[in-house]
Order: sequence, then structure tokens, then C-alpha cells
Amino acid sequence: MKKAGFFCVILVVFAGLAGAQENRSGVQAILNHSAARNFTAGAVSQGDLDQILLAGIRSPSANNRQPWMFTVVRSPALARQIVSNNEDGNLLIVISAEGDGRTNGSQILDCALAAQSMYLAAQALGYGSRIYTGPINSINQRLKDQLALPSGHNAVVLVRVGRVQGNVDAQSAASSRAAVDTKVQYK
Ligand SMILES: Cc1cc2nc3c(=O)[nH]c(=O)nc-3n(C[C@H](O)[C@H](O)[C@H](O)COP(=O)(O)O)c2cc1C
Repeated sequence: MKKAGFFCVILVVFAGLAGAQENRSGVQAILNHSAARNFTAGAVSQGDLDQILLAGIRSPSANNRQPWMFTVVRSPALARQIVSNNEDGNLLIVISAEGDGRTNGSQILDCALAAQSMYLAAQALGYGSRIYTGPINSINQRLKDQLALPSGHNAVVLVRVGRVQGNVDAQSAASSRAAVDTKVQYK
């Protein structure tokens, strides 16, 4: 009986250590991202896309309002109207919300968080991803009908997901960042 108790304690300790290790790898996934710049043609599987979209759906939002709609652009012709160098198979996930984006700032934050979640999930699954706001004005001026955005919605941000050439490692592809002590202060 005493022996069984001892083994239980050992099991719990190992489970705890394994959990801590998992959390550390979660942080590594966040630290190692980079905005893909070498997209190639190739499919994103529906199973992986479902996981990426779930990461967006699970994002936090102010008062849990979940103001977003995620419109997945699969049509290569439509995708190229939005991002001109989009490769066949690259998916654009357009994140839209009600309003013009100026009236409710937290909607923009909500959509941005969903974008970041999907951007990171895509990279964790081995794809390249990149966040874009450059095409947003043009989407809202010319493409809302083609995208069938919900009535009253405007696009806020989009995430591109696709295959990338495998020979560029994420760390060396990433642009540099400011030193921590120039962007963090303690009071
Ligand atoms: C809000 C936001 C908007 C962005 N818009 C564009 C864009 O319109 N076009 C583009 O090529 N990259 C865009 N990016 C990607 C950034 O340029 C990229 O994340 C940043 O330069 C860091 O690059 P790195 O991950 O390679 O270090 C955007 C990123 C963010 C977060």
C-alpha cells in the first residue's frame, strides 16, 4: 500500500514536469514565429485549416462578444485581387466585424487577437503565415460583395496561410526586434 502511494507521488511529479515542459514549448512557438515571405503553391489540408480556424474562434474578445466573421478565400483569382502575389493553395482568412472600425476600438483589438492566434497556429502546424492590413481599404471599397461579408461588416485584418519553402528557418528569416530594455519599463 505504501509502495502504491509512493508511485502515485512519482507519477504526479512527472505529470507536473511534463505539463511544465509543454508550456515551455508553447512559449517557444510564440518566440520563434516569423512573417512568411517565401510562400509557394500547395494545399493547406482541411483538417489543418479547421485547427487554425478553431484557434481564431477560441481567441479572447472584449465581453466575449466574438464580433468577427472569418471568410476563407479559396478562389485563386479572388485571392490574387487581394494579395497580388498569392500562390495557388495559399488561403486568405479575412477577418471582418460590424462597423467601420473607428466606433468600437475593442473590435479591432478582438480581430487582431484572432489574427495573431491563427497566424501562430498555422506556423505551429508547419505552414507559413503572414498578417496583412495593406489590402483592407481596397477590400472594403471594392470586394465586400464578392466576399459576401455579413451586412454591416468591414474587413479589419487578414491572415495568409500557405506552404513555404522549407529551407529558411524561422529565426533567421525574422526581422530584428528592439532590445527588451528599450521597450519594457518597471516602476
Ligand atoms: C497589423 C499588421 C499588419 C501587417 N500588414 C502587412 C501588409 O500589409 N503587408 C505585408 O507584407 N506584411 C504585413 N505585416 C507583416 C509585418 O510586416 C511583419 O509581421 C513584421 O515586419 C515582422 O516581420 P518578421 O516576422 O519577419 O520579423 C503586417 C503585420 C501586422 C502585425
